[in-house]
Amino acid sequence: MRKTFIAGNWKMNLSKQQAITLANQLKQQYQPLENRQIAVFPAFVYLDAMQQILQDSSLEWGAQNCADKAAGAFTGEVSVSMLQDFACKYVLLGHSERRHVYQETNAMIAEKFTLAQQAGLQSVLCVGETLAQREANQALEVIQRQLDAVLDLPIIEATATPNWLIAYEPVWAIGTGKTASPAQAQEIHQQIREYIGKNNGNLAANLRIIYGGSVKAANAGEILAMEDIDGVLVGGASLKIEEFLEICKCNNSY
Ligand code: PGA
Repeated sequence: MRKTFIAGNWKMNLSKQQAITLANQLKQQYQPLENRQIAVFPAFVYLDAMQQILQDSSLEWGAQNCADKAAGAFTGEVSVSMLQDFACKYVLLGHSERRHVYQETNAMIAEKFTLAQQAGLQSVLCVGETLAQREANQALEVIQRQLDAVLDLPIIEATATPNWLIAYEPVWAIGTGKTASPAQAQEIHQQIREYIGKNNGNLAANLRIIYGGSVKAANAGEILAMEDIDGVLVGGASLKIEEFLEICKCNNSY
């Protein structure tokens, strides 16, 4: 049984005080549900505060990125071991804003993934096509290339049970208000699972594939009800406590 994973990607938003307030509200108001994990992904500089606020709760936290090097003279970068100093359980890798605004390549993301896996930090590998790629019927091909960068790593063979996740986020649906329909998202999630299953049936059956792109309280339930959708990665709507709480609580069994 794959546990539903609900993640709030706060991106480069909130002041320190706002981040603290949001984390405290979530901690006080979220009643833990069985078979569900909730995690927030604040900016690096607020991870210390997250650890202090959330450590004695059911809520988890992670970082939005990490360096593709272990340590050394890499000005401005943050390493996997630094994230672990703040008890991060997860790291987002290859978010479309990292790929498209900061030109991160599949090779860089693979380096980060390997470092995270070696350290026991769970990666949330983000994949997804642009609108132009979808319109040119290249969505699956693009996603397969993004997946291959990680699936071909020797470290994947060594993991019997998956300690990483995939987030399918169509680039055209991020921050645009345009959501893939539940059926459109399910189709890609199923194709991702089938693709992984060609070489590794156990991994395909157990790996969680979550959906992201303009998820809000009004559409989360129907998205989560899809068979191959194991959670959601929420950007804008995770910054509003009522909205995010609704998503965290929403019924996914209809
Ligand atoms: P959005 O962002 O929910 O604001 O579209 C999702 C994401 O980028 O993770």
